[in-house]
Amino acid sequence: MPKLGVNIDHVATLREARKGREPDPLAAAVLCEAAGADGITVHLREDRRHIQERDVRVLREKISLPLNLEMAATPAMIQFAGDLLPHMATLVPERREELTTEGGLDVAGHLNDITAAVRSLRANKIEVSLFIEPDVQQIEASLKSGAQYVEFHTGAYANAFDSGMAWEQELIRLQNMSRLAQEKGLVVNMGHGLNYQNTRPVASIAGVYELNIGYSIVGRALMVGFEQAVREMLELIR
Ligand code: PXP
Repeated sequence: MPKLGVNIDHVATLREARKGREPDPLAAAVLCEAAGADGITVHLREDRRHIQERDVRVLREKISLPLNLEMAATPAMIQFAGDLLPHMATLVPERREELTTEGGLDVAGHLNDITAAVRSLRANKIEVSLFIEPDVQQIEASLKSGAQYVEFHTGAYANAFDSGMAWEQELIRLQNMSRLAQEKGLVVNMGHGLNYQNTRPVASIAGVYELNIGYSIVGRALMVGFEQAVREMLELIR
C-alpha cells in the first residue's frame, strides 16, 4: 500500500488570491499530519504563484513529516534546496504559462543537465526524484542520472478516467512501467490529477512507494475540513 504525500500548494493559491495571510499552508500541514498523511509536498514555482520561499522555510522548520520540494532544475532552486535541505527534491519541468505541471521532465533529452542537478542535490544528502512520463526511455535516462526515485505523471490516466475514455490502457502502462522501473532498482512514486474517484486503481499497482495528491484533497477540504479530506483519501488508498 503506497504512502500518501499531500501537496498543499493550493492552500497557498487561495491565500495568494487576496495576498492575505489565510489560509496558512503550515496549519494545513499540521492537519495532514494529524490525519495520518506520510509527507508534505510543495512546489516552489519560479513565478511564485502559490507557495512562497517563506512557506517552505517555515514548513521545513515546523513540521516533522518528510518535506518533498518540487522544483525546476535551475541553479537558483538547487542553491535554495541546498540551504533548506528538504528530505526529498522532485525535479519537475516548469513553463510559466501552464496551469499545472502538464507533462513529465524530459530527462532523456537533457541528461547532462539533469545528472549535474541530481549530483548537486545528492551531495547535500537530499533524496532526488524525477517527475517523468511512464516511458522506457525516460526510465532508463533517470537511472543513468543517479536519481533513486522517479514519480510517474499520472495525468494521462487521470484525464482518460475522468472523461470516461479508455483508461485501462493508461493504467496498464503505469503498471508495466512501474514494474520495469522497480526491476531496475528505482523507487516509484506517482501523482498528478489523482482524485477520490480515480485513485484506487493506481493505489493498487504493486510496489508503488508514494502517491502525491494535491488539488482534489484541497478542494475536498473546503467542504469537509482538511483532516477529514486526508482521512478519506487514506482510506481509499488503503
Ligand atoms: N506530483 C507532482 C510532481 C506535481 O507537480 C503535482 C502538481 O503540482 C502533483 C504531484 C499533484 O498533482 P495534483 O494537484 O493534480 O494532485
